[in-house]
Amino acid sequence: MNIHEKYIKRCIELAQNGFGTTYPNPMVGSVIVYEDKIIGEGWHKKAGEPHAEVNAVRSVKDKSLLKKATIYVSLEPCSHFGKTPPCCDLIIEHKIPNIVVGTVDPNEKVAGNGIKKLIASGANVVVGVLEKECYELNKRFFTFHQQKRPYIILKWAQSQDDFLSPEKETNQDRKPVWITNQYSRQLVHKWRSEEQAILVGTKTVIDDNPKLNVRDWSGNNPVRVVLDQNNRISKDSFIFDDSIKTIIFTKSEISLSAENTTFEVIDFNENIIPQILAVLYQNQIQSIIIEGGLQTLQSFIDQNIWDEARIFVGKTIFGNGTKAPILQMKNVTKTYIQNDELINVRNHD
Ligand SMILES: NC(=O)c1ccc[n+]([C@@H]2O[C@H](COP(=O)([O-])OP(=O)(O)OC[C@H]3O[C@@H](n4cnc5c(N)ncnc54)[C@H](OP(=O)(O)O)[C@@H]3O)[C@@H](O)[C@H]2O)c1
Repeated sequence: MNIHEKYIKRCIELAQNGFGTTYPNPMVGSVIVYEDKIIGEGWHKKAGEPHAEVNAVRSVKDKSLLKKATIYVSLEPCSHFGKTPPCCDLIIEHKIPNIVVGTVDPNEKVAGNGIKKLIASGANVVVGVLEKECYELNKRFFTFHQQKRPYIILKWAQSQDDFLSPEKETNQDRKPVWITNQYSRQLVHKWRSEEQAILVGTKTVIDDNPKLNVRDWSGNNPVRVVLDQNNRISKDSFIFDDSIKTIIFTKSEISLSAENTTFEVIDFNENIIPQILAVLYQNQIQSIIIEGGLQTLQSFIDQNIWDEARIFVGKTIFGNGTKAPILQMKNVTKTYIQNDELINVRNHD
């Protein structure tokens, strides 16, 4: 690891402190170095609050050193007026002569303009240090801006014999049959707190009446997204409790006096996935975790519109029921949470 990589790695570590709180902004970290010593550090905490570079500059005690220092930033400094002034202007104003950038900002409002502005000011600018790691840090933000859709995580739990759920009685008490242990389930709540939205199919709500919120972890609840073409989900289901922003995709809107629950009418005779993703994009949703059931998950898999799959394999054996989705297992990593196997599949290298 060379010296630039060492400091960009530190920027990435700092940036991660903002995980889940910076939306719709990316996570960004910055360090300021003079004579191989860090003299300032900062990260972006929340949209509307100062950017990483501002926090890093503010943390430097002896500002006279800035004229001889190097500023490292995991993402290109912004060049436009958003909720805060451009970071490029701050760097130029403080006459910081060297700038090292992890990766270019894919946001159309920046997209290389920050780098151009810094070069034009006469500074030395190095771009593309630990680029892959910086991209990975903001994979949701990059997917959103480059592909105009949220980053998609598929998640399910399956039994040893590849079922999502056992055969159910029609008069069952609308609860899921657990496959995984309490620690795996807690991890899922952490994951929910990290994403902006969560989606499930109609049958999952009818069968299991999920709350789709964050209970076993602290953090934000994702926006609930539910398919209900024919409005057949009963209105006493948790997803209609209006406690969290909820979007229902349907063929025909129904009237409901609810502040946080909205209906989006789409054409179910056409492919619904691009229509859903377009609405989520309009709603500035950068990431979504899809938690089942089979038909819903398989639709995304078959159209190859997903980025990551997280699959738990528990010790339970069901013998019959709803089959687990079929997914080609490549780019796989495996871990264990006690007896549960957790398989992570990436759809791209
Ligand atoms: N183990 C796990 O991780 C897990 C997670 C979630 C669910 N589950 C289990 O899975 C079972 C439900 O799975 P499922 O496959 O039967 O149901 P599902 O995917 O939850 O819901 C299927 C329904 O959603 C709508 N839908 C889904 N994809 C669609 C598409 N591409 N186009 C149009 N409509 C679409 C349709 O509703 P309409 O027919 O009304 O149009 C369809 O009948 C439940 O028993 C639940 O317990 C297990």
